[in-house]
This record gives sequence, C-alpha cells and structure tokens, in this order.
Amino acid sequence: MKSTLLSLLLKTTKLTLCLIVCAMGLASAQATDNKYQKMVDNDIKRFSQFFYNKFADVKPEDFKDGVYAIDAPAREQWLEIEEFPPYELSIDDGKELFETPFANGKSYADCFANGGVGIRQNYPHFDSKLKEVITLELAINRCRANNGEKPLKYKKGPIADISAYMASTSRGQVFDVRVPNADAYAAYMDGKKFFYSKRGQLNLACVDCHVGITGQRLRADIPGPALGQVTGFPVYRAKWEEIGTLHRRYAGCNTNVRAKPFKAQSVVYRNLEYFQTLMSQGLAVNGPSSRK
Ligand code: HEC
Repeated sequence: MKSTLLSLLLKTTKLTLCLIVCAMGLASAQATDNKYQKMVDNDIKRFSQFFYNKFADVKPEDFKDGVYAIDAPAREQWLEIEEFPPYELSIDDGKELFETPFANGKSYADCFANGGVGIRQNYPHFDSKLKEVITLELAINRCRANNGEKPLKYKKGPIADISAYMASTSRGQVFDVRVPNADAYAAYMDGKKFFYSKRGQLNLACVDCHVGITGQRLRADIPGPALGQVTGFPVYRAKWEEIGTLHRRYAGCNTNVRAKPFKAQSVVYRNLEYFQTLMSQGLAVNGPSSRK
C-alpha cells in the first residue's frame, strides 16, 4: 500500500516536473518564433514608412489600391469601373465552382478552415511540417488532389474564379501572415532576395520600378508602390480581358524586363508572394480587383 502510494506520488511529481519542463520548452520555442517575426516586423515598418514618406498625402490604408493609390486621374476612372466591376461574373462562377461537390461527395469547404469563407487574409501561410509556403491557389489544387480531382491551371480560368470568390468573402479583413520559425524566415529571405535582384536583359529588379521609381511615368505606365501590391489579387485586367492570378502578373513583370519567367506556383514565386504579402501586412484584402 505504502509503496503504491509512493510510486503514485513519484509519478505525479514526474508529471508535474514534465509539465514544468514542457511549458518551459514551449515558452522558449515561442521566444525563438518571436525572434523571426520581430525581424520581419522591423522590415515591414521600414518598408511601409518609406512609402508613407514618399507619398505623404496618401492615406496609409489606401495603398491596398495599388497604383490607383498614387495616380489621381487613373483612380477616378478606376473608381467608376469598380462601380460595375468586370470581375463580378468571376466571383459568381467561383462561388458555383466552390460549392459544387467533388466526385467523392466532398467539397472545397472540407479542405479549409471555416469552410473556406473569410480566410484569404491568412494566405499565403508557411507550413512548418512541409517546410514550404502555401498560397491560396496551391491549397485549392492540393484540395483537389486530396479528393482525387485533376489539378487546375494556375494562371487563369477556374482557379482564378475560385480564388476571386474566396477573396471576396474576406474583403476588408486585414492581412495576417506569420513567420513562425527559422524555415519560414528562410523562405521570406528567399522572396526578399528575389525582389531585390536585378534580372533580364534590362537588368532591373522589382525594387527598381516598384520602390525606386514608383510614381514616375515609365513610357505609358506608372509602376505602383510595392506596398499593397498583392492585396487585390486575383485581378481582372483590361489588357487580359479576363481575370488572372498574381503569379500570372509576376510572369508578366519578369517578361517585361526580358527575363525568363518562372512557373506559376514555383517555389520562387511562392516565396516572393510570401515576402510581398508580409510587406503589405495590416492592409485589407480587397480582391478581386480591376486593373488596366
Ligand atoms: C520596368 C519596371 C518594372 C519592373 C522591373 C517590375 N515591374 Fe511590376 N509593374 C510595372 C508596371 C509599370 C506595372 C503596372 C502598374 C502597376 O500596377 O503597378 C506593374 C505591375 C505589377 C503588379 C500588379 C500590381 C497591381 O496592383 O495589379 C505586380 C504584382 C508587380 N508589378 C510585381 C512585380 C514584381 C514582383 C517584380 C519583380 C519580379 C516587378 N513587378 C518588376 C513595372 C515593373
């Protein structure tokens, strides 16, 4: 009797000890998480401050409107277009696709938190187990694959419609993307490096146009500020005459400097999206949007 009591006591002490140690372990893990998030938070602060200074009369929350935040005449036209938005049909089609069950009876809603509604602001996110950035479009196709469906093409068509519908259910929600650990930080740094690297025959980096000369006319266009550049995707572009995804646009901006574009949803573009979305942290989701 005595010995069982003793062993029980020992067991509970062990348990308490373990609980304390485990809690300490958790706390220290969280402390390291904060280290990476803190470094990124510092970058976000400096990055956004640059644009607040450069465009002192633009309201910080308006940077989500891309180039229309800084180009007043174009903004007027854009606001008119947005009254009868050319992407409305896409949202409707996307909703229908989203709600149509797969052959196995399951649906997209089964793959996402909150049934896939109002979650756009949490994408892209870093999957710590898979050690990779998961964009919304990638998650859509993984959902299909897990349910025995063929993948959709990444640049336009049904995937852009579904993405448009999902974004529409998150309008006004503020982007909240996290950098939980060293692996996530490495993906962030990879995206950052891409953004700052010169490429193509014109030898230009994203930063040259979208930070350096943003607001200045470049032939017919004004490169918009990199702050808020991704919040409105997918976008209906007059030039495309249809809706397209962010990675389609990335490929366009690579081709414009005569560089070979990467594949949509390649690791480089996903990391770039991770970096760019983090830089736009705190701005509201306003996708889908219309663009020239
Ligand atoms: C030669 C200058 C130039 C370079 C270099 C460049 N862009 Fe662009 N980009 C533009 C112009 C001009 C537009 C159209 C106006 C706008 O929306 O900013 C544009 C548009 C975009 C858009 C669409 C923004 C929106 O609100 O619809 C994204 C996203 C983008 N660029 C990302 C990039 C990335 C990432 C890189 C680096 C891989 C890059 N760009 C390199 C000039 C450039």
